[in-house]
Amino acid sequence: MGEWECGGMGEWRQWLFISHSPALPFFSSHSPFPRRPFARNPANRILSLITMAKISVGLLGLGTVGTGVVKLLADDPRFKIKWVAVRDKTKLRAVDLSAIRVTDKPFDVVNDPEVEIVIEVAGGISPIYELMKTAVEQGKHIVTANKELIARHGLEIFKLAHRQNVTVLFEAAVGGGIPLISTIQRGLQANEISSVAGILNGTTNYILTAMEERGQTFAEALAEAQRLGFAEADPANDVEAFDVAYKITILASLAFGRFVDVDSVQRQGITRITDTDIRMAREFGYRIKLIGMARRGEGCLDVRAHPMMVPLHHPLASVEGASNAIFISGSAVGEVMLLGPGAGQMPTASAVVGDLINLASALRLPDFAPYFQPAIDEHQSPLCPVEDNESAFYVRLETEDTPGVIGNIGHALGGHAVSLHSLLQRGVMADGAATVILLTHRANERNVFRALKEIEAQATTRQIGVALRVYQ
Ligand SMILES: NC(=O)c1ccc[n+]([C@@H]2O[C@H](COP(=O)([O-])OP(=O)(O)OC[C@H]3O[C@@H](n4cnc5c(N)ncnc54)[C@H](OP(=O)(O)O)[C@@H]3O)[C@@H](O)[C@H]2O)c1
Repeated sequence: MGEWECGGMGEWRQWLFISHSPALPFFSSHSPFPRRPFARNPANRILSLITMAKISVGLLGLGTVGTGVVKLLADDPRFKIKWVAVRDKTKLRAVDLSAIRVTDKPFDVVNDPEVEIVIEVAGGISPIYELMKTAVEQGKHIVTANKELIARHGLEIFKLAHRQNVTVLFEAAVGGGIPLISTIQRGLQANEISSVAGILNGTTNYILTAMEERGQTFAEALAEAQRLGFAEADPANDVEAFDVAYKITILASLAFGRFVDVDSVQRQGITRITDTDIRMAREFGYRIKLIGMARRGEGCLDVRAHPMMVPLHHPLASVEGASNAIFISGSAVGEVMLLGPGAGQMPTASAVVGDLINLASALRLPDFAPYFQPAIDEHQSPLCPVEDNESAFYVRLETEDTPGVIGNIGHALGGHAVSLHSLLQRGVMADGAATVILLTHRANERNVFRALKEIEAQATTRQIGVALRVYQ
């Protein structure tokens, strides 16, 4: 394929309630957490709640998200951040660390027997994968925001956690502050989910919005996003759609209960989209959005991460700037749309600390860990061959400005049973190249790509700029 192809007191009350429930004993001999037997005596319960030791937390990473987590937990009576692991201990930090041990040896954190919960907000795979396995083997619960780790190694980590009777929560890994994982895992349990699709990357949505609203080129919009802190110095993870691929892989595995191989997910970035495409999309009644999409197919799962032409009337088209939005179709609920901040310090910290509080409440329950385990079959689901799909396409070509060009294009499309909805020629450049825009009707993708290969090989074609699917 060519590149164009593609807290507070409420929580304490909850614990008190739990401690009185005969079905949910405060302390159980079967519990993996036989903590505070002192509280078994009802006479001591109130005293126990007052004097209860804080849950000891180890934090790996004190960057954007880690700093937000420290801010949120600063005055929380339930938790004590015992450790923070960073790469560079000498760096100035924006939060008070006087009561926290700071280390550049993250294994010290996961090996500390006092630490009950490890929050991982460092990112990447190495050495984080080893650290997570060590932490789980030591019987520690994990809260992570690391989408790459969960997409690539989630299954193995969940299996290990299951054996160790601990749990791994990862709400912040997809959709930042949007409670998306818990919605799929718990809120929509009564449904058979047929599709999950939406805007899962704030950086690229910011860039595409800036290109449309301010008429910027891709390079200008990217530079602005980098200046404002929306994009990394190395933006490849976002603009080449790796980030969306990780996220949609996680959502597909949760929604359909089958492991998905992230490297097999169809992925296309936004780097080839030009201001011309943005303008033409608008003229045809669309907006270009980077979409993560997972649908049930016949005996397979259709999982993709690529830019699409979204009709202006569709709610996803009006999602602007760094926001994320996701549609979930369920058999009972119908369609649910979740919209909100997909990244950023405090929204992401909100999801991390939400997981932490859930975990802390559950720590008092016997055998709670399996409740949180995602039910994912370790046998991979085959991904539907992308070519079997049907879609309408937007295509931008650069051609010679000579007679016969349009005839050649029409001939190639017709020969592969692809019918045209619109064809426009826009301007001729100084070097004699013309820009030709095609919008096709729905067609088999295999046929579309064969026709485009044929067009690419024609003497009158200089290059195929971009081919984008139309969202339906
Ligand atoms: N930023 C967001 O809005 C957002 C949203 C959703 C999910 N996430 C996820 O959250 C995680 C953290 O993102 P972030 O934006 O906060 O990253 P970040 O700003 O780059 O911070 C990373 C932190 O981890 C520390 N670190 C990295 N490698 C380490 C190692 N080997 N040992 C010890 N410390 C190490 C760094 O130390 P130094 O400070 O010394 O360099 C830094 O404090 C990532 O998995 C990311 O994908 C982020």
